[in-house]
Amino acid sequence: MRKNDCIKWQVNQQTVQSTQTSTMRAVYVLLCLALARDSSCNIVRHQLNPHMDTLDVNTMDYVDHRQHQTEKEMKSTQHTSTSQESKEHYNYDDISDYPSAYRTVKNWNAPLFSTVITQGDQVPYGDVIEWRGVKIAAGPNSPVSDTKEIERIFRDAYKTVQHVSEEDKKKIHDVFQQAIVSHEADLVYNATQLLKLHKYGFEEHVVKTDDGYYLTLFRIKSKQDTLDVKQRPVVFLMHGVLGSADDWLLMGPEHSLAYLLSDAGYDVWLGNTRGNKYSRHHASKHVHHPDFWQFSIDEIALHDLPAMLDYALKTAEQTKLTYIGHSQGSTVFFALLASKPEYKEKITIMYALAPMVYMTNVRSPLLRMTAPSSQFYERLFSELGHGQFQPSKELIHTVGGNMCEWEIGCKHICSNVHFVMAGIDTAGMDYDFIPVIASHLPAGASTRQILQYAQGVASHEFRKFDYGLDINKKIYGHHQPPQYNMTEVNVPVVLYYSEEDWLAHPRDVERLHKELPNVKEFYQIPEEHFSHMDFQFSKRAPELVYKRLIESMKNY
Ligand SMILES: *[C@@H]1O[C@H](CO)[C@@H](O)[C@H](O)[C@H]1NC(C)=O
Ligand SMILES: *[C@@H]1O[C@H](CO)[C@@H](O)[C@H](O)[C@H]1NC(C)=O
Repeated sequence: MRKNDCIKWQVNQQTVQSTQTSTMRAVYVLLCLALARDSSCNIVRHQLNPHMDTLDVNTMDYVDHRQHQTEKEMKSTQHTSTSQESKEHYNYDDISDYPSAYRTVKNWNAPLFSTVITQGDQVPYGDVIEWRGVKIAAGPNSPVSDTKEIERIFRDAYKTVQHVSEEDKKKIHDVFQQAIVSHEADLVYNATQLLKLHKYGFEEHVVKTDDGYYLTLFRIKSKQDTLDVKQRPVVFLMHGVLGSADDWLLMGPEHSLAYLLSDAGYDVWLGNTRGNKYSRHHASKHVHHPDFWQFSIDEIALHDLPAMLDYALKTAEQTKLTYIGHSQGSTVFFALLASKPEYKEKITIMYALAPMVYMTNVRSPLLRMTAPSSQFYERLFSELGHGQFQPSKELIHTVGGNMCEWEIGCKHICSNVHFVMAGIDTAGMDYDFIPVIASHLPAGASTRQILQYAQGVASHEFRKFDYGLDINKKIYGHHQPPQYNMTEVNVPVVLYYSEEDWLAHPRDVERLHKELPNVKEFYQIPEEHFSHMDFQFSKRAPELVYKRLIESMKNY
């Protein structure tokens, strides 16, 4: 049996890795299977070994829960199945690309989750379908009957995964152990604490959007306080999907872009989108209520971004700013500029790092699996819920976590949805730094944000959020959501991308490049393995990305 390195921090290493435990676990799983729905399983397990990982137990609860859910789903689809009338109006070229509304819910009684079946032979719901460490449980009615679909989804991600040697697996494991022991400040510090620690002056601002969200902005003042902040050109930094302002600060002075820009004489502003750790208040909606989370990339682009940009310019008493967006930070910029061209007057130049606009070639298994064109879509869609994007442990495992564990062998990395979605290039980072990232990300996002990217995988276009045919018709006046037209984004743009990015594939960035009317630089990072997150966290990012970027800014 494979051993799981880098187990949870608080768990005693030896206990979990011993073969005795493996045997006990196998016995326990058999017991659980025998008891199936019996809740006493929990208690039995506890007596066997209190240190054992809890995955198996949760999974048994989960099986019950899923069956119950599926029955409910089946009933409710019968009631809400689409009417004949709207079916006649349906007129798309490729129906297979279209989401749920016209596709029947599949009667798939198998749990999707590989954790149920990690013991190999003991499968309660049919065959295990396995492809290079990715395991999916399939029941009698599963839409997935062989490895082809799994392979199709995971293949491209696999090609870019770096092999981690056993020795390095152990090193990664050790830094997690070490990090928790030493309680490093970096592990828990938020943006303001980090700025204070490094003796940068800062201001914290709160801006209210026109739809009631309160967003936090950070403004970095010069370290020496010698330069008058008013003389400094404004540069606005927008974090990526599941991120926060922290991402621009975590590597510290002389490494992270925010400090480097401040040192280079800029008035640096860091944005935070609704729903991340710094922007969780609303005039009337409570963050623990699903209402708070009913937003997609569209709302961030059309409400958050204008509110933040206008506020920064007004406060700095300037008319133009330089915009730097990583990942989703670039998505929302392009959506805003395509929708409100008047914003072009406020932009000196825009730098897109790993721009996510077209998703056709995305490598991330999570986004490929949750795409409406995927055979897993129906199942995952109901599993993801309708509020904050907080997939369960089992779900994370299935959409890439088990592949990650197979390769990196670190549960703590591979249960973090941010790493699982964006991929991780362990070789490009200082190992000591990985726990720091893991403790700051994910910083919060809505399920709709993720789904909107996944919809782009199926539609091959950059469209507004797809609510399904009927609601689209009511909201947009068409069955299909409108497109954001990239040829209308008429501002100077610089695109930085990398060959092995899981989220911003070079071919998709190339398409964006062709459509944008005013691209000043189209630059591939000259490093063979440079991942989506490396734009913010690689030890080589200052040299490969930031130096060039700051040089380039001087020309505009
Ligand atoms: C950061 O943490 C400190 C200490 O907990 C807290 O006082 C401060 O308000 C936090 N800053 C932000 C922006 O949340
Ligand atoms: C996008 O805008 C351009 C120029 O305004 C126009 O020619 C083109 O037809 C538009 N494309 C779409 C898909 O609307």
